[in-house]
Amino acid sequence: DAASQKDLRSPICAILGHVDTGKTKLLDNMRKTNVQEGEAGGITQQIGATYFPIDMIEKKCETMRAYTDPQFNVPGLLIIDTPGHESFTNLRTRGSSLCNIAILVVDMHHGLEQQTLESIRLLKDGKTPFVVALNKVDRIFGWEPVPNSNIRDALAKQSQSVQAQFNSRLEATKLLFAEQGFNSEVYYKNKNMSKVVSIVPTSAVTGEGVPDLLYLLLELTQTRMSKQLMYLSELEATILEVKVVEGLGTTIDVVLSNGILHEGDRIVLCGSNGPIATTVRALLTPQPARELRIKSAYIRHKEVKAALGVKISAPDLEHAIAGSRLLVVGPDDDEEDLKDDVMDD
Ligand code: GTP
Ligand code: NA
Ligand code: MG
Repeated sequence: DAASQKDLRSPICAILGHVDTGKTKLLDNMRKTNVQEGEAGGITQQIGATYFPIDMIEKKCETMRAYTDPQFNVPGLLIIDTPGHESFTNLRTRGSSLCNIAILVVDMHHGLEQQTLESIRLLKDGKTPFVVALNKVDRIFGWEPVPNSNIRDALAKQSQSVQAQFNSRLEATKLLFAEQGFNSEVYYKNKNMSKVVSIVPTSAVTGEGVPDLLYLLLELTQTRMSKQLMYLSELEATILEVKVVEGLGTTIDVVLSNGILHEGDRIVLCGSNGPIATTVRALLTPQPARELRIKSAYIRHKEVKAALGVKISAPDLEHAIAGSRLLVVGPDDDEEDLKDDVMDD
């Protein structure tokens, strides 16, 4: 009902898949940024976090109204970028454990590659629902770009030869997923979303299918996962990175998965020389739809609500450990107990 929908938090979506399938580029398309081109060797080496307020998503889904009446009941969407390079299994594991739903990005011209298969195993193990972005449709020979269009309109405007190539790639992909034990179908023909994996053809460069992808993520999380998206009073937060920032000293980049964090909160986290207890000096986020891992003009907040990525400035963070939990000392908590808890993780 309407009252309980007000209590929904923003869902968290992780992007997973083999190196260079276009994970960061898809996010760049959604953000209208060029993060990927600034990466060393074009390779992602950290977990990213980008928060999209719901009004931005609604605008990006406008072209979907030709086919459906999208509903927007959550405050926004947090998307977590992960590296696809083989050496970052730990970061993919962390990313997949943080999310409610995932986008598995597949290069439609390469099939299911090594780290795609590894990502599928992570998602299976975590029972995490996922959709497939079948990316790089614009590389089909003869593709006529229809920038930022929904995929059905874009496909309808292609020549018969392009459509035939597309269909043969799609069918080949479905066979590869069948070999991994998954039934799959292009999402607008999928009659059983809970059993059959949805495929969304996309181009991260020309933007076809990106509205479909955002629409589908919201549809699936809002209608099928609303229980998981209820606010918890208990805070859930994970440290992504420990970083020195000019003017701020050592800061931590954190994914706040549930609850509310305030300036002045007493926090407890894991450190390499033992537990750290400190007080939040400042809560900082990038502008909406900007990447947390990229230095920017941060916005300062008195409080932040899940889910989002936040930079925390506080004393004594020098030895904080990425990947560990962050706890808040509540009125009924004993700080010493919480110190034991974080070190037990
Ligand atoms: P890692 O984070 O290193 O695992 O890679 P990634 O999956 O984030 O891929 P990335 O965004 O770095 O893209 C890899 C290369 O593919 C870049 O050169 C992109 O420009 C290109 N690319 C990504 N998506 C598309 C697409 O849809 N169409 C075309 N033509 N090129 C794409
Ligand atoms: Na890359
Ligand atoms: Mg990347």
